[in-house]
Amino acid sequence: MNLILLGPPGAGKGTQAKNLEERRGLKQLSTGEMLRAAVAAGSEIGRKAKAIMDRGELVSDDIVVSIIADRLNQPDVAKGFILDGFPRNTAQAEALDRMLRSKNLKIDAVIEMKVNDEALIERITGRYTCAKCGKGYHDRFERPKQEGTCDVCGSHEFIRRPDDNEATVRDRLEVYNRQTAPLIDYYGRKGNLRTIDGMADIPDVRRQIEEVLDRA
Ligand code: AP5
Repeated sequence: MNLILLGPPGAGKGTQAKNLEERRGLKQLSTGEMLRAAVAAGSEIGRKAKAIMDRGELVSDDIVVSIIADRLNQPDVAKGFILDGFPRNTAQAEALDRMLRSKNLKIDAVIEMKVNDEALIERITGRYTCAKCGKGYHDRFERPKQEGTCDVCGSHEFIRRPDDNEATVRDRLEVYNRQTAPLIDYYGRKGNLRTIDGMADIPDVRRQIEEVLDRA
């Protein structure tokens, strides 16, 4: 099964994609995570992407399309994949359609996660991750069981993304509304768009997604 999680920054795409990886054996393909890995590695792509990401704008279509094309050639996507943060505009959606056609693959469901903007700001500005294993936490919604210690690996070091400040989040939302939201119509016309309530709590959002997948 192959799906797209579509929603603004902070909608919960990454949270739910990781859940689905564990429960359904699908592979999360997050262009944001891949770009952050390129920045951390200091690669040419990372050097090109860093300033753009820090401003909350979109990295060029050429870069992200080639990243996804490479990933779809890897054997670990054979059981199915979850696109998280891609496509982000109509040109990327069209490029994805061409890629899928050439590989004889299809998207089984596009899940739109509907949320309101003010909740997103609180979600994103409170988010942090373990510096060692990458486990995600939130100041209010998901704290470690023992304060200051990662539940998974025991590390005491945590990091916050440079683009997770309120001003940049507002810019990222504006970019989403202008460039990415038109994909709701794009996939609506194709007939495989399903909309869920992303304002519910994390387990309830997970349940809604499971229902969509069970029917797809
Ligand atoms: P990317 O990494 O894709 O960021 P994003 O789309 O802004 O999404 P986020 O990761 O911020 O949010 P999310 O929906 O995954 O939410 P999460 O689950 O973490 O992109 C970053 C940048 O890379 C872009 O700005 C761009 O520059 C570049 N880029 C990436 N892809 C690109 C592309 N295709 N083209 C061009 N440029 C690209 O949840 C957020 C927080 O809320 C967490 O703390 C979580 O615990 C909490 N939470 C989640 N769900 C709930 C819930 N239901 N209730 C309460 N809290 C919740």
